[in-house]
Amino acid sequence: MDLKNKIAIVTGASMGIGKSIALALANQGAKVVLAARTLEKLKEVKKEVDSIKGTCLIIQTDLSREEQILGLFDRTIKEYGKLDIIINNAAIALAGEFLNCTSSDFDELINVNLKSVYTCCQQALTIMLPQKSGVIINISSNVTAKCYERQAIYAASKCGVVGITKSIANEFHNKGILVALIHPGGVDTRLATQARPDIDRSLLIRPEDIADTVLYMLGLSDTAWVDEITVRRRAAKPF
Ligand SMILES: NC(=O)c1ccc[n+]([C@@H]2O[C@H](COP(=O)([O-])OP(=O)(O)OC[C@H]3O[C@@H](n4cnc5c(N)ncnc54)[C@H](OP(=O)(O)O)[C@@H]3O)[C@@H](O)[C@H]2O)c1
Repeated sequence: MDLKNKIAIVTGASMGIGKSIALALANQGAKVVLAARTLEKLKEVKKEVDSIKGTCLIIQTDLSREEQILGLFDRTIKEYGKLDIIINNAAIALAGEFLNCTSSDFDELINVNLKSVYTCCQQALTIMLPQKSGVIINISSNVTAKCYERQAIYAASKCGVVGITKSIANEFHNKGILVALIHPGGVDTRLATQARPDIDRSLLIRPEDIADTVLYMLGLSDTAWVDEITVRRRAAKPF
């Protein structure tokens, strides 16, 4: 897919993996909508996009609030008139003993990590189906395969993302919609520092590796697609 002038929303674009994906897409000529809560950080990302002569639009969004998600899509359409790609990347992590988790921890993680993906997919499809084209890439986690201890709620939220993604992939694959999952292992970001302080930072995956995975998917020819890719740390066990 030629990314020039394609319109792409990246959630969680203020730092980490989302920032790398946004920069990679902008570098290929896509017009990127940067969504996250922290305006200062979004402005820093915009500066980097500007420095590579890319185009982006900041839409400050708290994905835990449905009305702000609806505003994100409204504004994108008002500005650009279409949506070609959405990367549902934003998430928060929580690592802690299961018995210490609270129901408000549960509600917060499910709201940000899972419900927002549901709402974003629904909004994106409402735009993409009449276009008869669109790409939805959801960033899951290898926690869905490994289900590490002390990460029950995070694992549940990401397994939910897998469920939504596979179901909509099946429902819309013959309507011009491409849907995929990326399952990263430990990536060198704020989230990994919080959730996996036990891993030596020098052994973590670089955020750019996940951005390259997105570009690889989008660069496939018109007759091919990959449904999901797992990217693991070389130091971690395969499978
Ligand atoms: N790092 C890893 O080891 C790893 C491994 C597997 C999967 N993943 C997945 O990769 C994705 C990106 O994670 P990351 O490692 O890049 O984490 P990160 O550096 O902590 O970045 C998370 C992003 O999500 C945004 N975000 C969080 N809550 C939000 C909210 N309520 N509304 C809008 N934006 C929100 C943050 O922006 P603001 O705080 O500015 O809102 C930030 O841009 C996540 O889906 C994560 O589960 C990460």
